[in-house]
Amino acid sequence: MNNKITTLGGYIHEYQKSVSDPPAFWSTIAESFYWRKRFDKVLEWDFHKPEIKWFLNGKLNITENIFERNLFERQNQPAIIWEPNNPKDKEKVYTYGELYEEVKLFANMLLSKGIRKGDRVVIYLPMIPDLTIAMLACARIGAIHSVIFAGFSVQAVADRVKDAGAKMIITADSVYRGKKKTELKNIIDEALDNCDCESVKEVLVVKNTGEKVNFVEDRDIWLEDAKKGISADNRAEEMDSEDPLFILYTSGSTGKPKGLVHTTAGYMVFTSFSFKNIFQYSDGDVFFCTADIGWITGHSYIVYGPLLAGATTIMFEGSPTYPDAGRLWDIVDKYKVNQFYTAPTAIRALMGYGQKPFEGKALGSLKVLGTVGEPINEEAWHWYHDHVGKNRCPIVDTWWQTETGGIMISPLAGITPTKPSYATLPFPGIQPAILDKKGKEMNDNSVEGNLCIKYPWPGMARTVWGDHKRFKDTYFSTHKGYYFTGDGVKRDEDGYYRILGRVDDVINVSGHRLGTAEIENAINEHPLVVESAVVGYPHKVKGQGIYAFVFCQELSTGGIEGIKTSVRKGVDKIIGPIARPDEIRLVDGLPKTRSGKIMRRILRKIASGETDDFGDTTTLLDPDVVQRIIDNSCEKKYEVKEDKK
Ligand code: PRX
Repeated sequence: MNNKITTLGGYIHEYQKSVSDPPAFWSTIAESFYWRKRFDKVLEWDFHKPEIKWFLNGKLNITENIFERNLFERQNQPAIIWEPNNPKDKEKVYTYGELYEEVKLFANMLLSKGIRKGDRVVIYLPMIPDLTIAMLACARIGAIHSVIFAGFSVQAVADRVKDAGAKMIITADSVYRGKKKTELKNIIDEALDNCDCESVKEVLVVKNTGEKVNFVEDRDIWLEDAKKGISADNRAEEMDSEDPLFILYTSGSTGKPKGLVHTTAGYMVFTSFSFKNIFQYSDGDVFFCTADIGWITGHSYIVYGPLLAGATTIMFEGSPTYPDAGRLWDIVDKYKVNQFYTAPTAIRALMGYGQKPFEGKALGSLKVLGTVGEPINEEAWHWYHDHVGKNRCPIVDTWWQTETGGIMISPLAGITPTKPSYATLPFPGIQPAILDKKGKEMNDNSVEGNLCIKYPWPGMARTVWGDHKRFKDTYFSTHKGYYFTGDGVKRDEDGYYRILGRVDDVINVSGHRLGTAEIENAINEHPLVVESAVVGYPHKVKGQGIYAFVFCQELSTGGIEGIKTSVRKGVDKIIGPIARPDEIRLVDGLPKTRSGKIMRRILRKIASGETDDFGDTTTLLDPDVVQRIIDNSCEKKYEVKEDKK
């Protein structure tokens, strides 16, 4: 059976089945996969502990479900189409048969280097085919991959490598995205110099640009040398359903990123099933997700979901505006893309270029459009619908998270009636709940509150790597017995869900998820900075921008602009340019309560340009500080001093 829902009635029927008897529902879907040994129980769970196990005692390998299961039909079908950064360079197409050979050879090479089941391999690669091949090769031998987004910089990389206890790092010499070069190998060198990551025994380097890099003896090796003489004969490692497949780091309210652990069978079943149904993928279609594989969207809907479903998936190395703002539409036309999936921030950025980039582009192959990562405003939704979809493609606004593994609330394309900026209805198997401030579940429509999920689903993360307590504290303690998402939500009179954004100290900047504490820690590294507070504010293109209030001991070195520039540079270096503050205001104090807690809601208001009605400020230690921040008096005072000199 192909597990595809094709009508609204079908959705309602499947949804009801999935809620009335979840194990029976998921068991039927899981049956269509290839198991070395079938699972003997579908689910065991307890959200209080928390402990979640799906498809217990099943034995399988996810790559056998991509390759061996699909090969008979798909040997010569393109699995990955890789489109390079520079349109003048040639694309690369890997059929399922070719990709299979590459993955097996890479897997054997990893084995030859002593990597074994359960070892962690960090992959710090740009959007080149070796990235996907390396991930699948790890999965083939049971090594746990942890991909680090290639836009992260030294400290962010070091923290992740250390936390994962990686035995090997796979990187590249350098990469161009648009015209911008990133020297990945140098960043790895610096990261390894700065952390005591003794676990790392080897660094494999892909020759990507061919530019010169330094090599550390007995540690670094070119990938092409490591692959010499290795055979492509490989039998996949047998994995338990609950064996970890990968770790992916994401930001939370506190400074340290969390390594979410996804396991084998549940993730496989959930990503594949959600991919087929939400995007209504049919055999022969070409699917294009513009995300980077360094984020969960790329893991689930460039790599695993599509490949498990036997789809053709595009991997794009470049940027939407290089060499011009018509690049994505060129790609759509070049490969006759049928499903296109991107982030609202990209849509808003492209809106700014008007109609010219569409000239000469047909876009006639498109059937489905998707968005993910942040709320989509109505204007962007309509622009996407009218100009990209030419009024004939349904939009799926897909809500989900790194933690959820796959899409949770979304229309099924062309099946669920949509409303602009609504993620609409839960996917089968997903049981959302809206809780009020007191933690009471609200069962009616037309309510607003915290978005929780009250029943497990196969794709959910099982723990935080090395810190199960943190998993419990972050997701299962705010509302006992529920998984708490960190998002606010509204359910309207029709039972449709609209995501309102984060209710914690996490911000979504251009669809990238960042913790304010992480950015503050990076800013505080600056020698003149005493402390700082970072908040999000509405930004026309990015959705949310980063606003940093920075308290410096003295402003004598470099002047105001000099300090702001060096603060930004510091953040670039420590986390990466994605976390660079859009706005910085130097202040002579932060609004703190008597117990020392920064009142962020005040700063959020100031950052959004609202200067009245701050609510109750009586608990502030120094209430005058609020007015001084509004008046920008610290910077003004300094400017006067400068003038007098
Ligand atoms: O706030 C929600 C927002 O992105 C957060 C999850 O970020 P991350 O783990 O990086 O995963 C992003 C890609 C799956 C959520 O808590 N978010 C994601 N999708 C939507 C969204 N907000 C509104 N609408 C969406 N469709």
